[in-house]
Amino acid sequence: MEKGRAQWGSKIGFILAAAGSAVGLGNIWKFPGRAYEGGGGCFLLIYLIIVIFLGAPMMLTELSVGRASQANIVGVFHNLGRKNFAWVGWVGILGAFIITCYYAHVGGWVLRYVAGYATQSSAIYSDSLGYFYNMLGLHSDGTTSIPWTAILFAALFMALNAIIIIRGVEGGIERFNKIGMPALFILLLILLVRSVTLDGAEKGLEYMISLDWSKVNFSTFLAALGQAFYSLSIGMAIMITYGSYLPRDENIPGNTALICAMDTLVAFLAGFIIVPAVFATLGENEIGKGGGFAFVSLANVFHQMPGGTFFGVLFYLLLLFAALTSCMSLIESIVAFLTEHYAWKRTPTTIIVCIIMFLIGCLYTCTQAAVPLKGIWFDATNGVTFPPFCDFMEYLTDRIMIPVCALGVAIFVGWVWKPENAITEVEQCGVRFRLAKVYSILIKYVAPVAILTILIMSIAAGITLS
Ligand code: PFF
Repeated sequence: MEKGRAQWGSKIGFILAAAGSAVGLGNIWKFPGRAYEGGGGCFLLIYLIIVIFLGAPMMLTELSVGRASQANIVGVFHNLGRKNFAWVGWVGILGAFIITCYYAHVGGWVLRYVAGYATQSSAIYSDSLGYFYNMLGLHSDGTTSIPWTAILFAALFMALNAIIIIRGVEGGIERFNKIGMPALFILLLILLVRSVTLDGAEKGLEYMISLDWSKVNFSTFLAALGQAFYSLSIGMAIMITYGSYLPRDENIPGNTALICAMDTLVAFLAGFIIVPAVFATLGENEIGKGGGFAFVSLANVFHQMPGGTFFGVLFYLLLLFAALTSCMSLIESIVAFLTEHYAWKRTPTTIIVCIIMFLIGCLYTCTQAAVPLKGIWFDATNGVTFPPFCDFMEYLTDRIMIPVCALGVAIFVGWVWKPENAITEVEQCGVRFRLAKVYSILIKYVAPVAILTILIMSIAAGITLS
């Protein structure tokens, strides 16, 4: 199995690919809304502490387990002699599968908006909600139809991913990220300058750096923790797969720090772009998160902004790169598992898996607003807020599967495989791991307790949590 295993072609290639996985829709459309709800500066502070003390050790753990075992996320436990932990990998694979089903469709909508802004911005501006609904098959006269446009763009988005994955780790994923990630940073910086120079943006900026602790409660911590894991792509064992392609002489702690820093930087920048822009144009109460916000409210922001159409195209391009590089990491971990575990061939496996995930995802797109699947699961004709099926997919992955998989990995490394082995793996590059003691405590005690808490709270809070 080890013979001929793919490897990253260069250090920078790996860092950009891992950061590309981490930087995704979560950073750009969820983080700003969460930061706003969590009291701006306070949330940023809490988030930062969580990334440093939980996110980074978890990422380091996943990368080192992956490199030590040189296997996919189920094979890891076989190779390290603990078959009874293989369920952790299965949870990860299943989670990645479910996330990809909807993630790729949202990616398709983003692609549609890139094209829409470039060619039909006046239609978006004159009725942003109508435009969004129309894409999803719900028309202004109340009739519904199958949302072919959204489906077509989702198919395109998925095809793009499949092409990149088929080209392999170095020739496909690494190559794309080497272009996509720098482009993403440039777009972010341009949008940042635009946003903070808008009239009235100061209030939003002030909000983002103010420390208003009155908005902070226990659920702020949970939201920050869940957001951090999702954002860093932890708990789907993606970093195990990406770590398994890492050469032995790579410094894992250094790489972990860089990836976490890049992901957090992008999330913060997105916060400093979106919050001031919404304050300056629509007013602070309009800040939200998720699809309705990214596709409808932001259209009004761009409409009211000088040069809005141009910046609109740039913004959706930014989202597109972010979504693509994350989606391909999810697909890669599934394909790596299938090709190694069942000795299937890469190209047909990728094509078949992508088609299946695309088809399941059609349910997601169809049930947003249009084709009501009444009687099967629910009545899905209720507006921009995501209907139950979609909520359920997100709830299952974000709130249950990610914490369960992360908990499994933390317990496995903390108590079964032992932190000493992770530390030995980390030191393979010849550099002593100076934070080894702190790391051991974090992975043995702090991570399991914190993850178990979010898991219990998520289950207790049920499906109503957004
Ligand atoms: N980290 C990505 C984001 O912030 O959008 C999403 C994601 C990718 C989550 C890969 C989980 C994952 F395994």
